[in-house]
Amino acid sequence: MASVRGYVFDAYGTLFDVHAVVEAGRALTGDPMALSLAWRQKQLEYTWLRALMGRYEDFWTVTEDALRWALARLGLPAGESDVRSLMDAYLSLACFPEVPAALAALRGRPRAILSNGAPTMLAAAVASSGLAEHLDHVLSVDAVKTYKPSPKVYALGPDALGIPAGDLLFVSSNAWDVAGAKSFGYQVAWCNRTNAPAENLGVKADYVIRSLTDLPQ
Ligand code: 2OP
Repeated sequence: MASVRGYVFDAYGTLFDVHAVVEAGRALTGDPMALSLAWRQKQLEYTWLRALMGRYEDFWTVTEDALRWALARLGLPAGESDVRSLMDAYLSLACFPEVPAALAALRGRPRAILSNGAPTMLAAAVASSGLAEHLDHVLSVDAVKTYKPSPKVYALGPDALGIPAGDLLFVSSNAWDVAGAKSFGYQVAWCNRTNAPAENLGVKADYVIRSLTDLPQ
């Protein structure tokens, strides 16, 4: 394994379980996971479409716009209070159970979040999950007003840590994000939490793990 001098983590889906909002959806539908999946897919689609169109809005706006689409798509009679409670759930997402100990085990080298999340969203989730003590940087795409997998986003990691991408290990559960980071020049670990097939995007992860506990020390 080439030398790793620092770690850069994706947030949603990697450290935080986006489907933890399913509890808040239970009040609206008998199939809250269907709502969560439709919401997450549309949220990501909107980031890619807005980035390509050059019509950036922050991840809070995109996440709410995607939620409204998913509620309409599933024909769920949601009022404004339902939208607010689902959005508020995003501010206190649970982290996956192994994350605090896995991050703690990597101390001694800089550890950063690099995420599509808006700064206030990330600050809230980091605080509510208690991960602040295990993170040296929290980096949001908002600094460059576009979204992953733009190279402008991945450049934020080396810039903040002062370490070249090739000496950093980027960790994500989102296979498309893994491709973007590898394409940029990071060493990459794909935390394949859902046992998904690899993407056919012309680049491969250096490591495939099932949980952050498996990260190479
Ligand atoms: C993140 O950037 C990809 O949503 C994911 O945190």
